[in-house]
Order: sequence, then C-alpha cells, then structure tokens
Amino acid sequence: MGPLVEYRDLALTIGDVPILRGVSFDVAAGEAVGLVGESGSGKSMTLRALARLLPDNASTTGEALFDGTDALALSRGRLRSHRRGLGMVFQDPRAAINPMHPVESFLVERARDTGSDLGAARTSAVTMLRRMGIHDPERRMAQYPFELSGGLLQRVMIASVLMERPRLLLADEPTTALDVTTQSDVLALAGDLRREAGTAMLLVTHDLDLAGAVCDRIVVMYGGQVLETASATDIASRPVHPYTRGLLASRPPLTRRLDTIPVVPGTPVSASATGPGCPFASRCPVAVERCATELPEERLIAGSRVRCHRAEEVVAGVLDAELPLREEEVR
Ligand SMILES: Nc1ncnc2c1ncn2[C@@H]1O[C@H](COP(=O)(O)OP(=O)(O)OP(=O)(O)O)[C@@H](O)[C@H]1O
Ligand code: SF4
Ligand SMILES: [Mg+2]
Repeated sequence: MGPLVEYRDLALTIGDVPILRGVSFDVAAGEAVGLVGESGSGKSMTLRALARLLPDNASTTGEALFDGTDALALSRGRLRSHRRGLGMVFQDPRAAINPMHPVESFLVERARDTGSDLGAARTSAVTMLRRMGIHDPERRMAQYPFELSGGLLQRVMIASVLMERPRLLLADEPTTALDVTTQSDVLALAGDLRREAGTAMLLVTHDLDLAGAVCDRIVVMYGGQVLETASATDIASRPVHPYTRGLLASRPPLTRRLDTIPVVPGTPVSASATGPGCPFASRCPVAVERCATELPEERLIAGSRVRCHRAEEVVAGVLDAELPLREEEVR
C-alpha cells in the first residue's frame, strides 16, 4: 500500500508567477505531518493543491495524490466527491459556519452525513464537543455562532470535521488566532481524537515548536520549495538545513520573555525571486559560490531529506561557529 498523500514534483504558477517548485513529500495513513516555513513560502498553496482549492489562474505540473488519485487531474464532477474524503479546517471558523443557525444544526447535519439518526447524531455531537474541551456542550449547541468566541468556534469546527472520521485532516493555521497556551491544548485534544479515528493530518503552521509538539514529521518550506523533511524529533534535536537551523534559533527563548522576537536575518524571498541556485542563498550564513548558481539535489543525510550543498559539513559540526544556535544551547 502506498502513502495516503503523495506530492510528486509539484510546481505551481499563478498567472506567470512561479509559486511552487519541485515539491515532493508524502504522508502515511494515520501520520501527522507539519508544513512549516515563513510567510509566503508556499505552505497554504501546497495544502490547497491537494483539494484543488486554487486561484482560477493557477496552473500546475506534477501531481498531488490523495489515496492514489491526483486532484489536479480530476474532472469537476469527480473533484467534488474527492474533496468529501478530506476534512478541512482553516484559520477563520466563522467563514465556514452558517451564522443564521445555532451550532447544533451545523454539527447534527455533519453527523447525519455519516448515516446517524437524529438522536445518535446529537449524542455524538455532544460527546465530541466535550472531548474538544468545551464545558456544558448542550448549552453551547443551542447558541448561535456569534455568541461563541473564535476559540470556542474553532473547537466546534474541529469537532465537526473529526466527527466524520475523514482519512485526512487538512489544517491551515487552525489555531493561529488563539492565544499560545490554548493553541497547543486545542491541537492536543484534536490529536487524541484524530489518532483514535486513524485520521492522518497535514498541518500548516509557521510555528516550528507547535508543529514539533503535535506532528510525527516536519516538512520545511522556503521560497516555494521543500528544503528539509525529517522526523519531528530529528528536526528539533539535530536539524541539518541551515534554514531549519535559523528557524530553530529564531524561536523566542522558553526561559525568558523578550520584547521582540528574534527572526532569521534578512527577508524571505518568494519563488519568483529565487535564482537558479539554492533559494536560501541570499540569507544563508554559510553560502558558497556554487549556492547561487546550482540548485542542490534532495539527498538523504543523517535521517533528513535535505537540499543543501553543505549538508555533510553541517552534520560533521564544522560549520557550527557560523550557524545560529538556539539561545538555550549557547553556553
Ligand atoms: N491568489 C493569489 N494570487 C497571486 N499570488 C498569490 C495568491 N495567493 C498566494 N499568492 C502568493 O503565493 C505565494 C505563496 O503563498 P502561500 O499562501 O502558499 O504562502 P504561505 O506559506 O501559506 O504564507 P502565510 O504563512 O503568510 O500564510 C506568496 O508569495 C503569495 O504572495
Ligand atoms: S545550499 Fe548553500 S546557500 Fe543553500 S542552505 Fe546550503 S549552504 Fe546555504
Ligand atoms: Mg498560508
């Protein structure tokens, strides 16, 4: 059996602007994969390609397969049923819930789609809300969306999607609007339900710590390309790509509050502004001449799939003095 999700050399342009290039990675059944990178790196477009939720003037080459079917090659009619196998959660739950009906009608409708009768649908909705950390779910069900905070509504949204036990959950910054401690709580509760149902997840976030806490594997994107793919543990403990090192080092320290959050020095480049070489070359502290002209091949090094000409030197530790380290690691 192949992977549940498979991106094969996906390239995407909008109009004539390149947005994604050579995107290849997969998600196994039941696995949680985090798609991480700075703003504009192409995370959302990559996720949306799987459901072909793309701008009208987008064109693609390569494949975005879910369960062996390429969403980018389907007729409109078949695309609709293809999307039904996917659960989707986006940043703004209000855009996805009808404001004119109480929360209950939204949830019960979803539960009935799975073939439950009204009583069973109601019971299962109440159970799911409770498991998503919502107190007094019966009262909440009778309320209208405007009466619920964004955070509560997002819990409702996630409960409703997981209630259908999809094989894959596509989640694009689902908790970014919530405060930091709530974000990890909500994702942890969703993770329990997801694992019980055997639902895989593709989670888009710019927050490497959050992705590391709830995902099995991490895919790091920059300038419309995948630069590193590795297990969440390896990314946190021994990242190979200089960009991943920069992202890790730029997280705010856990031990002390900062007035400003440090960032990877320089400004992210979009896929259209990258030259023929490594997309990170203009910001990389260890770039050498060939980096600007030669695109690094993806190679498997120390357990990471990585695109960097100097990956072996990073692993050997010889570039440590030039590469950023996280504050806690500096002694
Ligand atoms: N409808 C559109 N028309 C033209 N360009 C677009 C459109 N949507 C996105 N882009 C461009 O595509 C690139 C990738 O966008 P994408 O939304 O995938 O980035 P992202 O990694 O999700 O960023 P963010 O963290 O800000 O959500 C960006 O440079 C963006 O400006
Ligand atoms: S290929 Fe060169 S520019 Fe790109 S990350 Fe590696 S060392 Fe830096
Ligand atoms: Mg996005």
